[in-house]
Amino acid sequence: MKVAETVSQLRQFIHSIKNPGSKSGFVPTMGALHAGHISLVNICKRENEVTIVSIFVNPNQFNDKKDLENYPCMPEKDLQLLEEAGCDVVFMPGVREVYPEPDTRVFDFGSLDTVMEGRHRPGHFNGVAQVVTRLFEIVQPDRAYFGLKDFQQLAILKKVTKDFGLPVEIVSCPIVREPDGLAMSSRNTLLTPDERLHAARISATLFQARDLAGSHTPDEIRKFVTDRINEDPFLQTEYFEIADDTTLQPVKSWNEPGRKIGCVAVRVGKVRLIDNVNFS
Ligand code: PAJ
Repeated sequence: MKVAETVSQLRQFIHSIKNPGSKSGFVPTMGALHAGHISLVNICKRENEVTIVSIFVNPNQFNDKKDLENYPCMPEKDLQLLEEAGCDVVFMPGVREVYPEPDTRVFDFGSLDTVMEGRHRPGHFNGVAQVVTRLFEIVQPDRAYFGLKDFQQLAILKKVTKDFGLPVEIVSCPIVREPDGLAMSSRNTLLTPDERLHAARISATLFQARDLAGSHTPDEIRKFVTDRINEDPFLQTEYFEIADDTTLQPVKSWNEPGRKIGCVAVRVGKVRLIDNVNFS
């Protein structure tokens, strides 16, 4: 496995291992890797001759400075996991390598970012779009792999890729969960043991909500999820929304056409976690 810190090193490595005509797959990450990230690498490896993973904590997407300062960082463990997974090239650039000049681009996501994460984390998706388009330019992959755990991020990146005609196929990958159901997240490492135990209520509530959907209206489910999570003194719901999975706009009735998704953000002490579940 080759590790590149600069764009020119990366280009050289890819050039040296990639046969003309073969496909390359790319998994962008912010490190502190877990089995969720590795599942993306595994899918990527199955579908491409060359697998490239980036580890870059993108300052532009952190609307909360404390969140950026506290973001977990464990490069040695990350490299070991990637080596074991059979990744071909890791790109670990510094900020200047990704942004030689400050990135001032402002993206238009239509109404995709006026709800949920977009509403609660102003500027977040603009920063995500900046870094992902920049990384695509640097890595020039045929395919890029993203987790459904960050459902809104995926919807927005699909739109950006389409709007700009970027020659990259965006591949959606399933959510990987801990044995008790908690969606894997780098931020889980920041939870205290008590918080970690209580955090399992988030996914458990989403699964209960999915089971109740047949006999309850979307508004009843919204109330159920928010109340059930907030009953736990360790948890505070920031939002729970049932949205159309394409427009991301709130669903009023189950009879509306299209698939529906329930997305939640919960504060667990100082940590903010997100998760989602399909309703159809
Ligand atoms: P990060 O949170 O490190 O996640 C990297 C990728 O792993 C994302 O596509 C995310 O959806 C996926 N992922 C995280 N947890 C997962 C889980 N439990 N199951 C399946 N996939 C999971 O998302 C980002 O980084 C950044 O915003 C990034 C796209 C790298 C841009 O900076």
